[in-house]
Amino acid sequence: MSRLSGKTALITGASAGIGLVTAKLFREHGARLAVTGRTETALAQAQQELGDETLVMRSDTGKLEEIEVAMQQVKARFGTLDILMVNAGLSRPAPFEKITEEQFDDIAATNFKGAFFTIQKAVPLLSRNSSVIITTSISNQKGSPNFSVYAACKAAQRSLVRTLALELIDRGIRVNAVSPGPIDTPNFGRRWGISEETIRAVREDFVEKAPLKRFGTPEEVAKVALFLASDDSSYVVGSEIVVDGGTSLPLI
Ligand SMILES: NC(=O)c1ccc[n+]([C@@H]2O[C@H](COP(=O)([O-])OP(=O)(O)OC[C@H]3O[C@@H](n4cnc5c(N)ncnc54)[C@H](OP(=O)(O)O)[C@@H]3O)[C@@H](O)[C@H]2O)c1
Repeated sequence: MSRLSGKTALITGASAGIGLVTAKLFREHGARLAVTGRTETALAQAQQELGDETLVMRSDTGKLEEIEVAMQQVKARFGTLDILMVNAGLSRPAPFEKITEEQFDDIAATNFKGAFFTIQKAVPLLSRNSSVIITTSISNQKGSPNFSVYAACKAAQRSLVRTLALELIDRGIRVNAVSPGPIDTPNFGRRWGISEETIRAVREDFVEKAPLKRFGTPEEVAKVALFLASDDSSYVVGSEIVVDGGTSLPLI
């Protein structure tokens, strides 16, 4: 049960959803933990759930200076890192013609710029034999109407995984991705600015399209992240593991 004992992990966007569940699983497996998020109430709740020994930081991943402060805090508390899970992400649906520069920048700052600079600023802390995991999305390989910026950023993350996997391997850093399909997190659809009725309709549509006829759970994503974080995946480099119950498989 201690696949991460002796290791230190930083998970961004872990005050809720997939990140929080993964943080709990990593902790159960013996990791020392640091997590980030933005909303104070969610962070306070996460601190309670993850325990006092977890470093819980308010840090907006879209802002370089806040990433740097978070890395300084990690260095001061733990010295080095063995696992970095770049998980902070957000999506807001909007038709392509209606997307403003501000909306574009908001989505791109969290999902792409944030992922890029989080890894860059973490590299000096990452030990030899460390693992970087980016939470991408199946939207990076499918057409995703109304999610044009988000899907493009997730495709950029996929590209980054391939490039950094090669660029960082000589330092003993493995870079991989976990790519969720529809996952049943408490916030699913809640930040999209749409009615509960529309969220229900979207959910029913996803379930209808899913070969397993259900959403995935955050635990099902967390278990794959645990595999990628641990030495069990020591020969896995530059991969993206899809966790979508077959939703993205092409039909003939
Ligand atoms: N759920 C799905 O169906 C699904 C499917 C495919 C991919 N994903 C990906 O999985 C990851 C986690 O998603 P989730 O469903 O667990 O989302 P969630 O429940 O909304 O949680 C997102 C987490 O990220 C944090 N976050 C968002 N923007 C941030 C920022 N700029 N800086 C720091 N933290 C930030 C949130 O904290 P605050 O709210 O305080 O900012 C929260 O802790 C994301 O990368 C998402 O794109 C999810």
